[in-house]
Amino acid sequence: MAVEFPPRLFVTGTDTGVGKSYVSALLAVGLAATYWKPVQSGVETDADWLRCVTGLPAERLWPESYLLRAPLSPHEAARREGVQISMDSFALPQCQRLVVEGAGGVMVPLNEKHLMIDLIAELALPVLVVARSELGTINHTLLTLQQLRQRDCSILGVVVNGPANEANCRAIAEYGKVRVLAEIDQRVDLAPANAAALFERYFGANG
Ligand SMILES: Nc1ncnc2c1ncn2[C@@H]1O[C@H](COP(=O)(O)OP(=O)(O)OP(=O)(O)O)[C@@H](O)[C@H]1O
Ligand SMILES: [Mg+2]
Repeated sequence: MAVEFPPRLFVTGTDTGVGKSYVSALLAVGLAATYWKPVQSGVETDADWLRCVTGLPAERLWPESYLLRAPLSPHEAARREGVQISMDSFALPQCQRLVVEGAGGVMVPLNEKHLMIDLIAELALPVLVVARSELGTINHTLLTLQQLRQRDCSILGVVVNGPANEANCRAIAEYGKVRVLAEIDQRVDLAPANAAALFERYFGANG
C-alpha cells in the first residue's frame, strides 16, 4: 500500500550517514517538494548533492540557515567560525510541499543550550526517522523515538536503510510501536533518471 505522506515533513536519523539525504532526495522527487537543510556543516553540502542526483531546479532547494565549513557537529563547526546558532533564526519556508533534513541525529548540539530535537520540536512538522538495518539499530532507533515522543513530536514512521534484516525491522515496529514505512534494502546510486522510480518502488502503491 502506498505510504500517505503529509505535504511537509522533517527527516531525522539515528546517526550521521544513515541515509537521511538519500531518503530526502526520494521524497523531494516523489512528493514534488522543496528541500531544506537548515543547518549544514561541511562544504560538500547535502543540497548540492541532492540537486545532482535529482536534477531538482534551484528554486526547489531552499537556502540553508547556517552553512558551516567544518564537517563537525554544528555546535563545534559554528564555534570555530565564531557563529552563534540562534533558535530565532529558523524561519520555516512557506512552501506547500517541503522536506526538511536535520543534521546528524536528534541529540546533536546546535549551541550551548539547544539540540537538534529543539529545532524539530519548534518546527512542529511530522517526523520520519531513517535508521540503519544492521546490528545496533534497535537501540539507536528506540532511543530516537523516545526523544521524539518526550517532545510530543508526531512520528510518521521509520525508514530502514541497508541490507535486508527482517528481525530488526520487526523489533523496531514492535518495541518502538511505530510503522516501518519502507525497507531500502538495495544499494542503488541515485540519479535524475531513477529517483522517481525508486520513490515508487519503496513508497508507492506496489512498494
Ligand atoms: N540505499 C542506498 N543506496 C546507495 N547509496 C546510499 C543508500 N543510502 C545511503 N547511500 C549513500 O550513503 C552515503 C550516506 O548517506 P546520506 O548522505 O544519505 O546520509 P545522511 O544521514 O544524510 O548523512 P548526514 O548526517 O551527513 O546528512 C551517501 O553517499 C549516500 O548517497
Ligand atoms: Mg545528509
